[in-house]
Amino acid sequence: MTRFCIITNTSNKVKMAIVDWRCTPNVAINDPLLMVGMPPALTAATGMDALTHAVEAYVSTIATPVTDSAALMAIKLISENLRCAVANGQNMEARDKMAYAEFLAGMAFNNASLGYVHAMAHQLGGFYNLPHGVCNAILLPHVEGFNLIACPERFVDIAKAMGENVEGLSVRDAADKALAAIKKLSSDVGIPAGLTELGVKEEDLKIMGENAMKDACSFTNPRIATLDDVIGIFKSAL
Ligand SMILES: [Fe+2]
Repeated sequence: MTRFCIITNTSNKVKMAIVDWRCTPNVAINDPLLMVGMPPALTAATGMDALTHAVEAYVSTIATPVTDSAALMAIKLISENLRCAVANGQNMEARDKMAYAEFLAGMAFNNASLGYVHAMAHQLGGFYNLPHGVCNAILLPHVEGFNLIACPERFVDIAKAMGENVEGLSVRDAADKALAAIKKLSSDVGIPAGLTELGVKEEDLKIMGENAMKDACSFTNPRIATLDDVIGIFKSAL
């Protein structure tokens, strides 16, 4: 339901985003019955992709109250239902809530755009043909750890939406709870701990970092990153 399209140039291994309202589908069928047969790993990866859409939209530099409300509800629904959908793909309540969640996350990022998680994950996809959702899930806590100082209050909201108790904590400590909750969800649903497991090599990080900085998704990231920053985030996610 979004205006985002992704295309891979296989000759230079660059995966690019095309963002234009003309790409918006006329009709999108979002029926949880069609998702029942997805295996657990695909459910986990696509669910974590949806979480990434919501988190990146929520901390985007062009977020609005409209995208915020969609993003926060998506984060809440994913936190409450992704584990159940992975554990039992025939749990229709979990599938139904996940279908709403990914749609809401789509509404959020369709208007607020994304950030460095997607900009960097696109490069991993283009370079190694790795699954998008898994790349996002691994990168998400590392990129948001980098972004945290740009908008700590936003991360407190994310922690609360993920069901974390932040009472009595400073903004900075409460913001950290969002990162911990993301990592816990990721590991609960079986996402690999790092990029090394997926075969990512340190010698490729520079070129991927350069390409990530040109990716359209990087433009709305809340913290400005240098090439060294982007390479450093890749390294921390190895
Ligand atoms: Fe995505």
